[in-house]
Amino acid sequence: MSDRLKGKVALITGAGSVGPGWGNGRAMTIRFAQEGAQVFATDIDEARLDETLSYAKEEKVNIHKGIVDVMQSSSIEQMVQECLQRFGRIDILVNNVGGSAKGGPVEMTEEIWDTQVDYNLKSVFLTCKYVLPGMIQQGSGSIINMASTSGMRWTGSAQIAYAATKAGIIQFSKVLAVQYAKQNIRVNTIVPGQLHTPMVETRLAKQRTGGDVSTILEQRQARIPLPFMGDGMDTANAAVFLASEEARFITGTEIVIDGGMSAKCD
Ligand SMILES: NC(=O)c1ccc[n+]([C@@H]2O[C@H](COP(=O)([O-])OP(=O)(O)OC[C@H]3O[C@@H](n4cnc5c(N)ncnc54)[C@H](O)[C@@H]3O)[C@@H](O)[C@H]2O)c1
Repeated sequence: MSDRLKGKVALITGAGSVGPGWGNGRAMTIRFAQEGAQVFATDIDEARLDETLSYAKEEKVNIHKGIVDVMQSSSIEQMVQECLQRFGRIDILVNNVGGSAKGGPVEMTEEIWDTQVDYNLKSVFLTCKYVLPGMIQQGSGSIINMASTSGMRWTGSAQIAYAATKAGIIQFSKVLAVQYAKQNIRVNTIVPGQLHTPMVETRLAKQRTGGDVSTILEQRQARIPLPFMGDGMDTANAAVFLASEEARFITGTEIVIDGGMSAKCD
């Protein structure tokens, strides 16, 4: 580990994980701390956050926890204030919270559509709304938004609101990147493909294969050219790069982490 984020303050949402192991938010939290960042790790679920804290203890790094519900504007504003009061600045914002609901427009209720839009997209708008003024004032910042290959391609099942909101994140990030480039604020998107994160066991298998984990893992692997599935650590390593000075000339773009899946046509 090489202090690539030394002196930087990082605010990460969804820093827990739906189950044991390396979810994206948990992995980014630990990797950022290993690289010397002061990490304000936030989540709606304190128990999941505490599990991330025990991973941090094992890795001998220190992180600070905060509770947030990204579905509530006031809660996001409070999270940002808490981070600023504690650390005095925010150099890196990672919008990690997100998740899918199955179905196309006929099967999906209007309520689920609205919730998906608020959860995956409006939450990103709101964190940016409250974090950007500080970044503008300090004349620097790096924002990393989590999209998904479902926002670029058909990825095996209809999840219309997820696909549409994740596509929205990609363009949202490009517009923000250009709008704030002169203030030296970089905005990029990470586009994970079908990773093997705890979400597969806890949610996806129930949604797709009646709880049969090995079948869903086989289905996902069949779409991936590389002979293995990535996990949250692959996302986290890309996020460390984007947040660091190594990526100082990189803004308004995406890093796709999918083992070659989106490059394949069949
Ligand atoms: N896991 C994958 O294979 C995969 C693939 C593509 C994209 N992604 C994206 O990566 C991101 C993280 O996914 P994951 O599967 O690693 O996460 P996860 O589902 O394991 O963890 C997300 C965390 O967010 C927290 N959370 C849920 N609702 C919240 C709220 N309202 N406010 C604050 N926190 C809340 C949960 O408690 C949980 O700890 C998401 O945006 C997801 O769409 C994941």
